Amino acid sequence: MEILHYPVLHDSVLEYLALSTDEDAVMIDCTTGEGGHSNLFLERFPRLHVIGIDRDKEIQKKAIERLSIYPGRFTPVNSWFDEYLKGAESESADRILFDLGISIFHYEESKRGFSFRKDEPLDMRLNEDASFSAADIVNNYSEEDLADLIYRYGEERYSRRIAHAFVEERKKGPIETSKRAEDIIFHAVPKEYRYGRISPATRTFQALRIEVNGELDRIKPALLDAIRVLKKGGRIGVITFHSLEDRIVKWTFKEEEARPDSQIRIITKKPVVPSAEEEKENAPSRSAKLRVVEKI
Ligand SMILES: C[S@@+](CC[C@H](N)C(=O)[O-])C[C@H]1O[C@@H](n2cnc3c(N)ncnc32)[C@H](O)[C@@H]1O
Repeated sequence: MEILHYPVLHDSVLEYLALSTDEDAVMIDCTTGEGGHSNLFLERFPRLHVIGIDRDKEIQKKAIERLSIYPGRFTPVNSWFDEYLKGAESESADRILFDLGISIFHYEESKRGFSFRKDEPLDMRLNEDASFSAADIVNNYSEEDLADLIYRYGEERYSRRIAHAFVEERKKGPIETSKRAEDIIFHAVPKEYRYGRISPATRTFQALRIEVNGELDRIKPALLDAIRVLKKGGRIGVITFHSLEDRIVKWTFKEEEARPDSQIRIITKKPVVPSAEEEKENAPSRSAKLRVVEKI
């Protein structure tokens, strides 16, 4: 069966970013993925045009096929969202949506080593033309740099032990697969940490992915440009999945709202989280948070 990414917080996103059904509008879906959210909006708002950004060409093909049922209403763009927004025209969009991170497709189908449950090349690039992969990081970074990045982007308390183990193990031969990386991490951490609530490899894999794709560094510049690109009265919605992302979104919006010449108003004083029902039917949505601002 084909796995489709379940559009997280779908009801809340539709509610907070709702549009008029009888006026033309433009939405930029900065993280189109398989087009789950775009599909909902195109279906609900018949005069909406969606510009769909994704850096990953493979998943973008799926969105293009899925959204071909809305001829002329979906324009795919293969780009990093921060780079696209930097060049986008001011006050040209009514809605801008970000659903940060990666999709179930990446874990289950991409064969790029995002999942430590699979034995795949340790790649993790969303941009296939990028010069370095996750394997390049674990094989070439100094022990100190590796430890710092695992600590910073994974919030992993055993970062030093894990970095040391990578450096020792790579002496025996390059670390090239997700399984070998997982095995190294598993043996590097204390026994009692090996069988916790999450796999001991979860945090390190998250850190590698963030580093390979520059994920966190793209968020703030993209949000600032998104404010510029938005029309007055338009709204930006951002869904995050972990505290590192959410912190950047929260503080960028707070700082922008507090400026004397502020252009935005925060609509969600507290982030919107999934209902108990959504959590039950879609476990990966558990840690999702939605923040919405409006341009004034
Ligand atoms: C969580 S998924 C989005 C799923 C989508 N909302 C849906 O309902 O199908 C995030 C997507 O954004 C892409 N992505 C992540 N960071 C990106 C960035 N900085 N620029 C462009 N695309 C990015 C990933 O390749 C992935 O397909």
